[in-house]
Amino acid sequence: MALALLELFKGFVDHSVVGMVAFDSSCTSVFANARAMEILEFKDAKGVSCDALFPDPSRTGAYTLLSRELIARDGMTSEVMMKKVNGHYFLASLGVKHVTLKGEIYVLLTFQDVTIEKKLSRDLQAKQEEIERAYSELLEQNRQLKELDHAKDKFIALTTHELRTPLSAIMATAEVLELKLYESEEQKEEFIKTISEQGRHLMDLVNDVLDFAKIRAGKMDFYVESVELKPLVTKLFNNFTHMAEQANVTMKVDVESGPTHAWVDLLRLKEVVNNCVSNAIKYNRNGGTVTLSLTTHERFARLMVKDTGVGIPADKISSVFNEFETVGHVSKHHKGTGLGMPISKRLMESMGGGLSLKSESGVGSEFYIDIPLDKVLEESMYRSRPDMEADLAA
Ligand SMILES: Nc1ncnc2c1ncn2[C@@H]1O[C@H](COP(=O)(O)OP(=O)(O)OP(=O)(O)O)[C@@H](O)[C@H]1O
Ligand SMILES: [Mg+2]
Repeated sequence: MALALLELFKGFVDHSVVGMVAFDSSCTSVFANARAMEILEFKDAKGVSCDALFPDPSRTGAYTLLSRELIARDGMTSEVMMKKVNGHYFLASLGVKHVTLKGEIYVLLTFQDVTIEKKLSRDLQAKQEEIERAYSELLEQNRQLKELDHAKDKFIALTTHELRTPLSAIMATAEVLELKLYESEEQKEEFIKTISEQGRHLMDLVNDVLDFAKIRAGKMDFYVESVELKPLVTKLFNNFTHMAEQANVTMKVDVESGPTHAWVDLLRLKEVVNNCVSNAIKYNRNGGTVTLSLTTHERFARLMVKDTGVGIPADKISSVFNEFETVGHVSKHHKGTGLGMPISKRLMESMGGGLSLKSESGVGSEFYIDIPLDKVLEESMYRSRPDMEADLAA
């Protein structure tokens, strides 16, 4: 009966899901249950040194390594790196218990191989983190989309408003003419002039909006060629002499030391320079200066349009190029669509260059038009504009 109980007990121990291995005081195994033999890949339950289970101490990592120190005291450790007899490592949840039997002290290690659980939980955690990241990206995209949608609504509302203003002026003036409500021939001429001015403004606005939509959709055609910069920019700049005189602004050009050629679409560059120079005059002060200079900046020809005007406050700088914001300023000043800068920036970027600015409120602004010195675009963009003459004359 006593023997049967012992065998029964040995059977329970062997079938335990927990591995058990006992070492004597010289750290040699004296017993291992079936699960321990299986996990540790013991051939024999007896005579194995505990050293065989210790991973290389030089191995660094986040885990505690099984060692003599660890088995010198009783306790539970949740993630311990152990070594099998064949040299492979595994992660164990380990219990250490010192047992005294018949005057002898034994160390009983009970453990479970948690490598797979650990890996699964690590994978799960990584997956969870991935899902969380994807979710927050989605939220961010959603937020941006909402913002864009809102900005689009604002853009349409503002553009509509900007279309309505000149249209109302045209209609009111035309009505005056129709009803012959003018008092003299001069007044009649004035009304006709108003109609033609407002009509031109309306046309500019429509053209800008269309251009803008075209660039955004990547549908604008570019004809990029190697252009001789100095005479071109000097000529473009000089076209503004009259406007500058009227605003009492002095114009200065300094292009001599700059690069001679760069790759750009002449017609589009002309638009950008005109936008920058007209702004520099428009937003200048009485008696101010506009300077145009040409230098080399990295792999670009840099055209700088510098003014001594009102400048742009730091928190407004980013909105200069923001198509959804600038339109709002228009009614406050001269005729203009407020799309000049956003269009110019996109034009320059589409040609492999850039448009940036530096400004100080009350001191003035510097706009940098960067034109690539080398070919940086798709080969198909390097071609001549079919009716260049007509375009340039325009
Ligand atoms: N040189 C400058 N100095 C100060 N503010 C400027 C300057 N250039 C542009 N800005 C500011 O940036 C805004 C956007 O300029 P942008 O050229 O796009 O529009 P606009 O001049 O108002 O209209 P448009 O160019 O269609 O006539 C301007 O309304 C103005 O507030
Ligand atoms: Mg402008």
